[in-house]
Amino acid sequence: MAPAGLFVRNARIHPTTSTGEALSDLAVDGDTIAAIAPAGALPPDGRPELDAAGCLLSPPLVDPHVHMDAVLTVGEPRYNESGTLIEGIFTWAERKPSLTHADVKARALEAIRWEVAQGTGLIRSHVDVCDPNLVALKALLELREEVRDIVDLRLIAFPQDGILSFPNGKELMREAMRLGCDVIGGIPHYEWTRDDGVEEVHFLFDLARETGAPIDLHCDETDDEQSRFLEVVAARTMRDGMEGRVVAGHTTAMGSYNDNYAFKLIQILRRAGVTIVANPLDNIVLQGRFDTYPKRRGMTRVKELDAAGINVACGHDSIMDPWYPLGRGSMLDALSMLVHVAQMTGRAELFRAYEMVTTNPARAAEVPWGVKEGLPANFVVFDCADEAEAVRLRPAARWVVRGGRIVAETEPARSVIHRAGSTTPVSFIKPGGAG
Ligand code: FE2
Repeated sequence: MAPAGLFVRNARIHPTTSTGEALSDLAVDGDTIAAIAPAGALPPDGRPELDAAGCLLSPPLVDPHVHMDAVLTVGEPRYNESGTLIEGIFTWAERKPSLTHADVKARALEAIRWEVAQGTGLIRSHVDVCDPNLVALKALLELREEVRDIVDLRLIAFPQDGILSFPNGKELMREAMRLGCDVIGGIPHYEWTRDDGVEEVHFLFDLARETGAPIDLHCDETDDEQSRFLEVVAARTMRDGMEGRVVAGHTTAMGSYNDNYAFKLIQILRRAGVTIVANPLDNIVLQGRFDTYPKRRGMTRVKELDAAGINVACGHDSIMDPWYPLGRGSMLDALSMLVHVAQMTGRAELFRAYEMVTTNPARAAEVPWGVKEGLPANFVVFDCADEAEAVRLRPAARWVVRGGRIVAETEPARSVIHRAGSTTPVSFIKPGGAG
């Protein structure tokens, strides 16, 4: 049954860099945004009403890079005490044999609920396909359909242990795509040799030709400045006419390249229209582990890529798994880490960064994203005034709307201060925000 409609009053509509202080009302009919007008100019016409009270009304957040098969496995069978990427991969390899269909679905559903409750409407999850039985993939394919009412979940066939370096790796990738994976993943820097990594990249593009699917690979996730598979990806993207359909995640080696090489690489990435997804929560703790001091930050060149006109997005990557024991499924947490590590704290840069968890990753997923008349009624009212404040406060998502229906709502936390000698407590609905 189609929703009865919705009427949101007094919203500051994204991008507030264009709408400024002006408040708007937004009317929803069925699953579509029917009208947006200055506050007070539209009749609600009996639709159920929400008062945004001057808060930000944003397109839903997008998590373009997460590993839903591994979420909430931290400590199983043991903790990653060194904190390194490689111990994470080995710990995951120990956990993989005990994966079951029900186990994967239950953990992923819980993490998806966390993301949805905090405003995420589109999730692209890598799924490890280095498993002869493809247990996790089959579970998440089923879950993808079961959560359609609350989120758009897309699945990426991810060869965690390599394609050439894992038995039957190519056939497992093909089987994952046959079973219904949406996107082709990869991990060329993890293959045993440079040549194998290059061959892997060519295999991914050949598979893309066969299946018509886009590509989203892990690439150069290392501090090794000699890891240079991204140039191979960019070249094949252009030769195959796949501009705009290829995403490279992590690309942390770019943080270690010399500036001459980075300049050349950025030029070809721009021409190839490759999207870069940074995963700052994981990479600020996983990288630089072989360094003493000075210690590298190990993040891709977010600011420079963005300035060069490359589509840059931000992913959560891990939520309590062998690589990252923390995380709560908040894309605004991930974005907060990004603006710190990338030093994007200029006023305009904070607004710019907000696009990295909304419109930029949606563009990479080839999905229209925005708050406009005629677009699907997918949006979030955040308990804050604008995008920069969203990054700072990581506020409650008051209402998360998908297809014209409220799919999650959160009451902002309230703190109360009791001063000595005073009988009147002081309460704050947003510590750090308005009193
Ligand atoms: Fe990842």
